[in-house]
Amino acid sequence: MEDRDVDEGVRRAASHDESVRANRSWWDASADGYLDEHGAFLGDARFVWGPEGLSEATAGLLGDVAGRRVLEVGAGAAQCSRWLLGAGADPVALDLSGVMLRRARDLAPGLDVPLVQADAARLPFAGASFDLACSAYGALPFAEDSAGVMREVARVLRPGGRWVFAVTHPMRWSFPDDPGPDGLVARSSYFDRTPYVEQDEQGHATYVEHHRTLGDRVREVTAAGLRLVDLVEPEWPADNTRTWGAWSPLRGRLVPGTAIFVCSRP
Ligand SMILES: C[S@@+](CC[C@H](N)C(=O)[O-])C[C@H]1O[C@@H](n2cnc3c(N)ncnc32)[C@H](O)[C@@H]1O
Repeated sequence: MEDRDVDEGVRRAASHDESVRANRSWWDASADGYLDEHGAFLGDARFVWGPEGLSEATAGLLGDVAGRRVLEVGAGAAQCSRWLLGAGADPVALDLSGVMLRRARDLAPGLDVPLVQADAARLPFAGASFDLACSAYGALPFAEDSAGVMREVARVLRPGGRWVFAVTHPMRWSFPDDPGPDGLVARSSYFDRTPYVEQDEQGHATYVEHHRTLGDRVREVTAAGLRLVDLVEPEWPADNTRTWGAWSPLRGRLVPGTAIFVCSRP
């Protein structure tokens, strides 16, 4: 859930390594501002799937977590991992950004969640070492090698394990990043996978987002040997009056903002 208010970028190709470099710096530089703005909504130890506010405590998409070893991918400040810990799980929080992970440590000193700095497409864990994996807008919207993320998660999951990830709903790609009425007019093609890139004066990427259609995501899941169990599109609740970047009550009433893929490893 990034929260830029206007489109400042260009559309051009960006390799996985360029995307990782840019996004690591961007999240390092933005971690404090992001958490100042959204930390209260996210809570220190809540598990929120997206700006609609659907919580894991309500949705139960991971199933029973007690006693399970859980990998949180793109954990940010590890709020979800802390909720998992409180629910009796044994979580590991992984993120690309060292500053985000430092904020994770500072948010709740003494709460024993192991923090790992790594790229989600190159997981530093042995095969079949987790029962569950989850991601609330972590890594996947930013990864060029999103198919590689799926393969890596499939590799580290035990048979019977579950992988649940939330991303920006792919249909949002056609619309400007605007929470108001302008954000309801389709301006670009849903089928154009060219990434959104912000760059410096030398043309080096400073922030990158990658688009996958719904079908792309399903194909990446199945190509990794995983099975799609459910696709959850949370509705915007009437009592959520909060705007988060381009996610707003106005748009949320009309179009989905988040897609949550529930997958299992046979
Ligand atoms: C929107 S935050 C999601 C974290 C948390 N669930 C939240 O809502 O704040 C996105 C996180 O993904 C991380 N990220 C981006 N690209 C990544 C990658 N390739 N591997 C691991 N983490 C990545 C960022 O550093 C950032 O902390």
